[in-house]
Amino acid sequence: MTSTAPVTELLYLGAAALFIMALRWMSQPATARRSVPAAVTGMLLAVVGTLIRPEVVTYQWIVVAAIAGTLLGIPLARVPLTAVPERTGLSQAFGGLAALLVGTAKYYMWLEEGELTHFRAAVVAGEVILGGLTCTGGLLAAGKLAEWIATRPITYRGQNVVSFVMLGAAAVLAVWVTVNPTDAWALPVIVGLALVFGVLLILPIGGADMPTVISFLNSYAGLAAVAMGFVLENKLLIAAGALDGASGFVLSIIMCRAMNRSVTNVLFGAFGSVQKAQAAAEERTVKSATPTDAAELLLNADSVVIIPGYGMAVAQAQHRVRDLYDQLTKRGVDVRFAVHPVAGRMPGHMNVLLAEADIPYDRLVEMDDINPEMPHVGVALVIGANDVVNPAARNDEKSPIYGMPIIDADKAQTVLAIKRSMNPGFAGIENELYYAPNTLMLFGDAKQVLGDVVKQITGEASAH
Ligand code: TAP
Repeated sequence: MTSTAPVTELLYLGAAALFIMALRWMSQPATARRSVPAAVTGMLLAVVGTLIRPEVVTYQWIVVAAIAGTLLGIPLARVPLTAVPERTGLSQAFGGLAALLVGTAKYYMWLEEGELTHFRAAVVAGEVILGGLTCTGGLLAAGKLAEWIATRPITYRGQNVVSFVMLGAAAVLAVWVTVNPTDAWALPVIVGLALVFGVLLILPIGGADMPTVISFLNSYAGLAAVAMGFVLENKLLIAAGALDGASGFVLSIIMCRAMNRSVTNVLFGAFGSVQKAQAAAEERTVKSATPTDAAELLLNADSVVIIPGYGMAVAQAQHRVRDLYDQLTKRGVDVRFAVHPVAGRMPGHMNVLLAEADIPYDRLVEMDDINPEMPHVGVALVIGANDVVNPAARNDEKSPIYGMPIIDADKAQTVLAIKRSMNPGFAGIENELYYAPNTLMLFGDAKQVLGDVVKQITGEASAH
């Protein structure tokens, strides 16, 4: 054992503990903030612990890589919150690529040095398969989320068969290379199959399912890191990869449940390829309201439930929401927030925005807790939410979102819905809520509309 080994082991232990605590803290809004510095500190300990290992013979290339990584990382970290899902997809693609490159490099090094064992060949094969599919899958998912490429599912006859044959062939070759580790021709073929499989996996999935897919890719990237940990004989990488893999998988399952979809339906169901609901033959009209009407309704309500959605994120309206909350609570109105688990475009999207505007956590109510109360709510204020309040999920068996749990905004005595137009939400389907007799539309950008409503309230207050 060299002199740095105990220090490295200690630093790795600290890093693993911090990673575990960071995940634990992430599960509660009150502690979520401290999880980021904890995870960053953990990563710092891991990097320092690795850099002092005796295997590091020169720092020259490490410095070059660190500079390149920093130059790439800074702009990636500066994207707006709405672009975080595609940025995460890109990060996963890079993670997958790293695993692929490390695995391939190690394979050829061991081959040259005559140190290839069956176990090493098996682990490398697993690593390059997971790394390869995560790399191209992550790139494609990012492209779909950012709308650089068509977001609709791209399907063709027998696609699932083609995809599985491809994955099956990679698995057979992985077994082959495990049995015959020095048959070097097999590895590049496995890499090629994995890269193509990543593309085939994502092509038939629609943009609406991309956040869930990103979470699945997260778990694949975690598993690739576990394999990389075995390849590099690094216990921390194995532990961190396992945490990443497990948390990504659990999160994907939570998202599937929140949409009432099975994992296979998300991955192979080509959701979003369905034809948009036929517009009703007759022209339907909606009732619209002015900010003055809205202010009056809100002030006269005993209780208001605010239901934020993706449009609040687009408009960056969270601070205006806070102003409205302040003005209404000051005047004795009970204001709560109902947050749907898949509102927005990433898990916790609404929670992050509301926390940024310092909305007290105890005002946030889970979907299952608020729904039984909705019939007693005076005003449901829907801010840029659409699919997550679409009653078709309850009433229309033919709807693609049928069965998805929703927030029952339609059951409130009055619904005020803020959006810019009658365009559909992410699932691309019409929303009956806007045509309901108890719904009033407030057309416009959420930030602007909320600002106008607050002005009406404060103006009215000064008039008293
Ligand atoms: P959406 O159904 O996407 O609806 C957002 C609405 O916001 C749109 O109808 C849009 O209408 C409006 N909007 C956009 N910009 C606006 C602005 N500046 N001001 C006011 N309104 C604006 O959002 P949602 O209800 O939050 O549902 C989320 C969707 O994403 C669901 O389909 C869900 O299944 C899917 N999804 C989410 C996740 C996660 S983890 N969050 C995961 C998988 C899938 P206008 O264009 O007319 O303004």
